[in-house]
Amino acid sequence: METRRRRRAVRLLTAAALLWAASFAAHAGEVEVLHWWTSGSESRSVLELKRLLATQGHTWRDFAVVGGGGDSAMAVLRSRVLAGNPPSAAQIKGPAIQEWGRLNVLADLDDVAAAQKWDARLPAVVASVMKVHGRYVAVPVNVHRVNWLWINREALRRTGARAPTTWEEFFALADKMRHAGIVPVAHGGQSWQEFTTFESVVLGVGGADFYRRAFVDLDPAALRSETMTRSLQTFRRIKDYTDPRAPGRDWNVATAMVIKGEAGMQFMGDWAKGEFLAAGQQPGRDFICVSSPGTSRAFIFNVDSFAMFRLKDPAATRAQKALALTIMQPEFQESFNLSKGSIPVGSGVRLDRFDLCAQESSAYFTATAMVNTLVPSIAHLMAQPAPIEHAMREVVAAYWNNDRMTPDEAMTRLVKVSRPRP
Ligand code: GAL
Repeated sequence: METRRRRRAVRLLTAAALLWAASFAAHAGEVEVLHWWTSGSESRSVLELKRLLATQGHTWRDFAVVGGGGDSAMAVLRSRVLAGNPPSAAQIKGPAIQEWGRLNVLADLDDVAAAQKWDARLPAVVASVMKVHGRYVAVPVNVHRVNWLWINREALRRTGARAPTTWEEFFALADKMRHAGIVPVAHGGQSWQEFTTFESVVLGVGGADFYRRAFVDLDPAALRSETMTRSLQTFRRIKDYTDPRAPGRDWNVATAMVIKGEAGMQFMGDWAKGEFLAAGQQPGRDFICVSSPGTSRAFIFNVDSFAMFRLKDPAATRAQKALALTIMQPEFQESFNLSKGSIPVGSGVRLDRFDLCAQESSAYFTATAMVNTLVPSIAHLMAQPAPIEHAMREVVAAYWNNDRMTPDEAMTRLVKVSRPRP
């Protein structure tokens, strides 16, 4: 009697499990995701997203395009869309979301956004970028702070100096590091990295209002000014402290120089912290994060996000929505950002497992928003459409690479390329 009852229970359970699996399979789909997260810490962070998606039965088709800053990824994206074969999701950010949205190729995520209350959970400065004509078409992943200076703890100890807060202190420390046989600044000679350093210099020399006038408003009176001259001069001085092998070097290779103590410092957003952590290093003990000189009261933000392309296949659309939903879940926000170096973007995520750099970043993000010193990164496509950003970036890189170009010449070219096309 007992055996028969147990057998029946097992049969029922098996049937229920099969039913459940069948409904699961019916809902399962594939998402092809284009991104440029290929460094050690970046790939590790992406794995987290793949894992969470897989637990829901969906498959992730990886479409990773190598190249920090995403230049190559964006070129590949354009050709795929033009060929009528867009990926399900692509790492697109800032004003580019609006541009793709206006072409009417992006999917509407308003149902997911309503279910997870994105409007209430996201800072206004982020939510507005994710929407086109008032509807969500992209999901934010994180908030990176760009204006950081990363310092090898041991290199700092050997110089007997403190972490710099002004440009004067920075150059004094760089001199000491050089005397101690350490490359003072780890630099990767690629135009986006030069522009990344430059935006921190402009913020440090001119302050947030000046930064906004120059890079958000593209005001010619700011782009050609005494403050911009000083910014360009300071920028060029930094180059003296880099090594001759910098040209072409990837950003994470430059970070590795600081990790190993071959170099003392690096200007880079906090995705660099992901590399320190992946190498088993800890802030305070092995490396130090400080605001780049003169920028402690300001914040250059860089928000990563995924835009979804409109698809015909219902299973693929379901998988796409599952991806958006997963990204905004506190569990993902915590685990992903712990390894990526950034901070969570939506409210409702606890920060106790985050390190001091992240806690500082989070506090600054809120505080700088209140006093209006929170500014978008131009080098990371948050401030201008890609064509203007690229043109300005090439001027800055040309100036960095050609010591004969004067600040005056650079400013004339900056004004010229930033004019709206007729
Ligand atoms: C940025 C991106 C970061 C990081 C970095 C280096 O544009 O926002 O998440 O990936 O490029 O690749």
